[in-house]
Amino acid sequence: MKKIFAALLAGALAISLVACGTSSSTASVASAGDSSKVTSAPASETPTLDAIKQKGKIVMLTSTGFPPYEYLGDDGKPAGVDIDLAQLVADDLGVELEVIDMNFDLLIDALKSGKGDFIAAGMTANEERATHIDFSQSYTANGLLMVVAAGNDTIKTAADLAGKTIAVQSGTTADLYANDEVEGAKVLTFNTPIEAGTAVAGGKADVAIIDNLPAKSIAESSNGKLQVIEGFITEEPMAMGIAKNQEDLVEEIDKVLAAAVKDGTVEALTDKHYEIAGA
Ligand code: ARG
Repeated sequence: MKKIFAALLAGALAISLVACGTSSSTASVASAGDSSKVTSAPASETPTLDAIKQKGKIVMLTSTGFPPYEYLGDDGKPAGVDIDLAQLVADDLGVELEVIDMNFDLLIDALKSGKGDFIAAGMTANEERATHIDFSQSYTANGLLMVVAAGNDTIKTAADLAGKTIAVQSGTTADLYANDEVEGAKVLTFNTPIEAGTAVAGGKADVAIIDNLPAKSIAESSNGKLQVIEGFITEEPMAMGIAKNQEDLVEEIDKVLAAAVKDGTVEALTDKHYEIAGA
């Protein structure tokens, strides 16, 4: 199953690369054809980036309550790995960063309707979402974990989820998993994974399904009420989301993320925010 997904994802990336290759070669043929006839300036190869620089700001869409990637800092403002990575993109472009915080299940529509320039929300790049938006390169290998009440020893593996009441954040891959992969589950959806954890701590759900580090962070902040079951039940790459047909912005974000992965920035930011958010 993992292999099939990887192949599909590779296929989706290849399609977007082919599409991009076609349009740029068409452009160069047109201008090389007869340059003396070109009266207006050639179209920019970076129209999205030009528009962002013109505005003087880049707008990131996120959904806090997902430490260490995005959470509300002591000043009440969104903080976290994704915000710092987005700041690197803004700095590289020489523009301000604006962060808009909303429910996770609204992010893709908000991006498509132009409310922001990109999504940075610990979002899993999957094939269904790739039919709506494009994804950057992955910056974190991630997976889903099960979170249960401390002392609960009835849930050890994914097979034990059958027939259970499962708390998830609405619109996430955990929501999909609980609905599509688990036999006879009762799925309770919440606006944040923190609330999903609270439902388990309060006995309203048997188990929450939450991404790796957010699950651990939430369990650590639960005053001993929650425990994480080790072992990913899925493996999912996290990436940033960009509206379709903005290849220049995808390339810019990829450039910044590739450098941040390579020089250890992503790892250092993850450690730093895990400490702060868990404190
Ligand atoms: N990785 C999961 C998904 O893409 C959960 C992401 C939740 N992110 C957040 N900022 N609340 O569905």
